[in-house]
Amino acid sequence: MNCTISPSLLSADFAHLEEQIKVVEAAGATRLHIDVMDGHFVPNITFGPMIVAAIHRLATARLDVHLMIEYPERYLEQFVQAGAHTLIVHLEASRNLARDLRVIRELGAAPGVAINPGSDFNALTPYFDLLDYLLIMSVQPGFGAQQFIEESLGTMETAVAARQDRSYLVAVDGGVNLDTIGRVSATGIDIAVVGSGLYQAADISARFKDLSR
Ligand code: DX5
Ligand code: ZN
Repeated sequence: MNCTISPSLLSADFAHLEEQIKVVEAAGATRLHIDVMDGHFVPNITFGPMIVAAIHRLATARLDVHLMIEYPERYLEQFVQAGAHTLIVHLEASRNLARDLRVIRELGAAPGVAINPGSDFNALTPYFDLLDYLLIMSVQPGFGAQQFIEESLGTMETAVAARQDRSYLVAVDGGVNLDTIGRVSATGIDIAVVGSGLYQAADISARFKDLSR
């Protein structure tokens, strides 16, 4: 069974956002990945809740909003109100991860956590029961189109095994493309986020199907 491909809009053409959303939804995408960057937690800046709200109006797929921002606790409510179905905070950015995850659930969204390459996976153990979505970063966060860090395959296998009978989804983000999807999928992971490996294709719909095979 192959993993679910979750298109990352970071690599989409924002001048044609509606078309870029529709093409992947028509190809079968059920969850879109939205990268929020603040220029502090990561060196890049993307967009905030207003753009998420605009995407929410355009999309029927679920919106997984990946917060690469400092002080995530200040913005959780705004992003849920904007239409985030899943709200993902970074282990490395949160000052109180249990609290942030509980607040997200109380706001009515699915709580998620992301972990950077190089961070200690065991630090997540106390939070497993609070999670709906666990995101393993397979690049240093901040930019699309970086090279997949092969060592993250081991973290992915560890995360899948550590879940046991819990129901959260395990996802990977960064450097997934036609070359790496086979190894990614073999770890048993549920979701692969794909940005440049999808949106840089001449035929995005065909690429979505190739990645999903
Ligand atoms: C990286 C972002 C990713 C990015 C992945 O900081 O979190 O979601 O869009 O892009 P690709 O698939 O091009 O590595
Ligand atoms: Zn992301």
